Amino acid sequence: MNITYKTNKEDVNWQEVSEVLKRLGLSNHPAWEQEIIFKNSYAVVFAYDDERIVGVARALSDGVCQAAIYNVALDDEYQGHGIGRTLIETLLEQVKGQNVILYTHPRTVHLYEKFGFRRSKTAMCMFQGSEEKLEWMSEQGFLLPKDFRFADEYGRKDMQYQAPERGE
Ligand SMILES: CC(C)(COP(=O)(O)OP(=O)(O)OC[C@H]1O[C@@H](n2cnc3c(N)ncnc32)[C@H](O)[C@@H]1OP(=O)(O)O)[C@@H](O)C(=O)NCCC(=O)NCCS
Repeated sequence: MNITYKTNKEDVNWQEVSEVLKRLGLSNHPAWEQEIIFKNSYAVVFAYDDERIVGVARALSDGVCQAAIYNVALDDEYQGHGIGRTLIETLLEQVKGQNVILYTHPRTVHLYEKFGFRRSKTAMCMFQGSEEKLEWMSEQGFLLPKDFRFADEYGRKDMQYQAPERGE
């Protein structure tokens, strides 16, 4: 294993990026769309074994205060050696001082806790996709049920918003 990291978008083999993300089940976009996706991202990192891409990660950002991490993926045979940690830390370094959000699979919640992330009670998301895909996400544990409230939120008056009545 000869792992190196690259944080620029020049001379990237987008086919390899697409294949890593497909292999890990994170994204199905073809190479030409991954090129758009990563080139439009604020921060990127690619892990290479010699000349081949084996891991990727990217973050969106306004460049000042708000960032979001996506597509952290590393081929199976490279996992467990600290490469994923370096991918995530390299992204965080590039958005240092900014608020960072992400969503992840339930199995990697604990991983992100190790980097200091906390789960948010008010994060809201609107996913695109078929009914089946959204059903799958609910079953996997990505999404809380529709209109979900945490136990301590029942009875909170400020969460039961009613529009003021309009005057005549
Ligand atoms: C997530 C992923 C990038 C981690 O890569 P990795 O190289 O195996 O991770 P590392 O070896 O650098 O481990 C980093 C730390 O996280 C921990 N960790 C790794 N996988 C974990 C998991 N699933 N749950 C909890 N902790 C985990 C490690 O123990 C390690 O902790 P330490 O540094 O305190 O010892 C990789 O497993 C992967 O690509 N998985 C499939 C895709 C995925 O789930 N991506 C995340 C969702 S966006």
